[in-house]
Amino acid sequence: MRDRVRPLFTEAQIRDRVGELGAQVARDYAGKDLVVIGLLNGVYPFFADLTRAIPLEIEPTFMQVASYGGGLESTGEVKILKDLDRSIQGRHALIVEDIVDTGLTLTKVRNLLLDREPASLKICSLLDKPSRRKAEVPIDYLGFTIEDHFVVGYGLDFNGKLRNLPYVGIYQP
Ligand code: IMP
Ligand code: MG
Repeated sequence: MRDRVRPLFTEAQIRDRVGELGAQVARDYAGKDLVVIGLLNGVYPFFADLTRAIPLEIEPTFMQVASYGGGLESTGEVKILKDLDRSIQGRHALIVEDIVDTGLTLTKVRNLLLDREPASLKICSLLDKPSRRKAEVPIDYLGFTIEDHFVVGYGLDFNGKLRNLPYVGIYQP
């Protein structure tokens, strides 16, 4: 499986970019009460690196959602597998995702969280694949924009595998 992966972003490139994103978030939220919400499972390496690059007293936490439908693409119907364990009402919230593809998942999650009346709600994604967008979703902090490739590694999976590759690569079946 690993021999079908062509490197796209190296560990060093990712580290540098994540460091910049962390610094940017830290500047914007200095002195504020910030809950950083990682969307499992894909976000785990990015989330660990990003939150450690934010030198503020943030509250890192997770949510896990699944797209209904069972097809290859998300349908936009989202089921909550793991909800937040604390309220975000009146607090600043930042959703962290591995990749925005159609934008359907994040649109649903965003609306769901906006209903809980946070002081603000922004989005941070490591990758953006704008060519496949079906629903416009504002990405406030973005690592890299990519072409329409299926990518794996650094959290991104192919059938549940390859998430633990330390870099991002293009999967060639
Ligand atoms: P969407 O924006 O609702 O289409 O869904 C985004 C989700 O689809 C991401 O969180 C990933 O789990 C998955 N996804 C989209 N593109 C890729 C890819 O290239 N590789 C691995 N997972 C992907
Ligand atoms: Mg995901």
